[in-house]
Amino acid sequence: MHQEQVKAFRLWFYQYTKSYYSDDPKIQTGIKFKEEHTDRVCQNINRIGQSLNLSLEDLYLADTVALFHDLGRFKQYTVYRSFNDRRTEDHAQMGLRELGLTGVLSVLSEEEKAIIKTAIEYHNQRDLPLSLPERCLMFARLIRDADKLDILHSFVEYYTHPTNDAYSVMETGLPDTPEYSQTFVQNLLQQQSCSYSDVANCNDRKLLQLSWIYDINFKFTLAEIARQGYITKIFDTLPQTTDLLAVQEHLLSFISN
Ligand SMILES: [Fe+2]
Repeated sequence: MHQEQVKAFRLWFYQYTKSYYSDDPKIQTGIKFKEEHTDRVCQNINRIGQSLNLSLEDLYLADTVALFHDLGRFKQYTVYRSFNDRRTEDHAQMGLRELGLTGVLSVLSEEEKAIIKTAIEYHNQRDLPLSLPERCLMFARLIRDADKLDILHSFVEYYTHPTNDAYSVMETGLPDTPEYSQTFVQNLLQQQSCSYSDVANCNDRKLLQLSWIYDINFKFTLAEIARQGYITKIFDTLPQTTDLLAVQEHLLSFISN
């Protein structure tokens, strides 16, 4: 890929997202939120890619994956007024459908198109199938790290500034009750990923987000999570119980090793 193609994709993307701008303040907040998320994910993927010494062509390809990874979010929020995939539709599939309908990727080679589509398809799945071709896997890992890095950033902002309107779209409707699931505590101590289906309240959701630490692919991402202090910042908003303090210590030592 070359720079002019990425520039053209970026212009196309902002025309596309503008077509979803709305007078309805709730919709408009959701659309702007995802535009800004996309910008930050593009920056993250670029920084991770540079840490791996990727070629310029691969950095452009990674940038394109990041630019389009949440394309489905704009239609999803406009149609359903929700970003909850389980209650609406899988936004990765919605994005792939939009890419197909608009034909925006048609200028790219078959290999480039396959990489972009595969990376988008698996960016929000719990597990990444290791049977994918090696280059597809690399770009899928890049977008998963870049995306998680920004989701952690956004949730920390939301947890620490809960009244900021820009983050109102992150409200989950989950009860903000003091208990938390022992399944998550055990999974986190055993360095296992957690399942959305076990989330019963806000604390569980925070623990689920913390379990992503075990699903990070690149050193740069872990170092950035450590540098930003996301783990401690999330634990500061959880009950200060003995078992959660043990989980915090476990995660901090995992990340520093
Ligand atoms: Fe996404």
